[in-house]
Amino acid sequence: MTTATTKENLNKGEIRSAAERFGVLEMPSLDYTPEIAAETEHLYQRVAHHIPRIEWPAYAPYVAAINRIKKQRNAVILAHNYQTPEIFHCVADIVGDSLQLAREAARVDADIIVQCGVHFMAETSKLLSPEKTVLIPDMKAGCSLAESITGADVRLLRETYPGVPIVTYVNTSADVKAESDICCTSANAVQVVESFGVDRVLCIPDEFLAQNVAAQTSVKVLTWKGRCEVHERFTAGELLAYRAADPSVQIVAHPECPPEVVAVADFAGSTKGMIDYVRDNRPAKVMLVTECSMASNIAAEVPEVEFVKPCNLCPHMKRITLPKILDTLVNMSGEVFVDATMAVKARQAVERMINLKN
Ligand code: 13P
Ligand code: SF4
Repeated sequence: MTTATTKENLNKGEIRSAAERFGVLEMPSLDYTPEIAAETEHLYQRVAHHIPRIEWPAYAPYVAAINRIKKQRNAVILAHNYQTPEIFHCVADIVGDSLQLAREAARVDADIIVQCGVHFMAETSKLLSPEKTVLIPDMKAGCSLAESITGADVRLLRETYPGVPIVTYVNTSADVKAESDICCTSANAVQVVESFGVDRVLCIPDEFLAQNVAAQTSVKVLTWKGRCEVHERFTAGELLAYRAADPSVQIVAHPECPPEVVAVADFAGSTKGMIDYVRDNRPAKVMLVTECSMASNIAAEVPEVEFVKPCNLCPHMKRITLPKILDTLVNMSGEVFVDATMAVKARQAVERMINLKN
């Protein structure tokens, strides 16, 4: 199955004239020429399992253009593991889970970061690299967790639970991070919750992540009613039905899933943790209980592994497409800003997490 990425018709003429206006000297053709075919063949090999050869001419000119303009602008592309294969394998410089991307944003050597992910990820990059221009190809790429809570809600929680540390998932706005003591990701949530050495911690806003953390620690974990719209839809019943039909299938779930889903899984972890599990264990059949691009992105590396559905699409992650990335780089559009006062406090919460010893 391929995505609609290159079928969204961005006007090629408009992109070219914008490129000229902004002084991009070597705007390549967006036609599929023999030169473009040769230049992108090694990249096609990375996605050949996913994109039929007959469709590559629709992708290749964008891939070539993005990679050239990226160099001219001294830009790097950070892409989350949920990005589509043509972004993940053909134009991204750094890929990873939320924790890896945050760490890379803090140390990346470039003038511009193009964040292929959702808005809170771009904000986190801006917090950690305030001197860099951070661009997101679609400003509307949001997140149901980030939208579930505001800074005012966190202030109210602090009043209600005085002295209880507030651990905030990175899937939140800078406003929410600024009111928090420390951030966490799905990769380090248990470690962060335990880092305070107290018996009660607020872990917000994902109630399922908090419940899954609570199952792994003696710390009492208080939470909020936020949910990931992608992971909340999985049920233990459907997974058990798959396992009953084929007991050999390994079930690997993300901790944003309901606890009863995580309970029936063979392994639960961040998107990096899930990829590492498949890489290290090479199960004959595996079900990645998460966003659909995960299986597409790792499939080529582990050809002996069969990926079994179900998976769900994140509509926010899927807003990022090759034409939009090119448009962003050419026009320098979609710049992400964070209020300076808010940024100081929000940065502390993210840096405290990054600086925690492993
Ligand atoms: P991780 O990649 O950190 O596991 O996060 C998953 C997710 O839902 C990001 O939006
Ligand atoms: Fe948000 Fe869930 Fe989409 Fe991640 S997958 S961006 S948590 S809605």
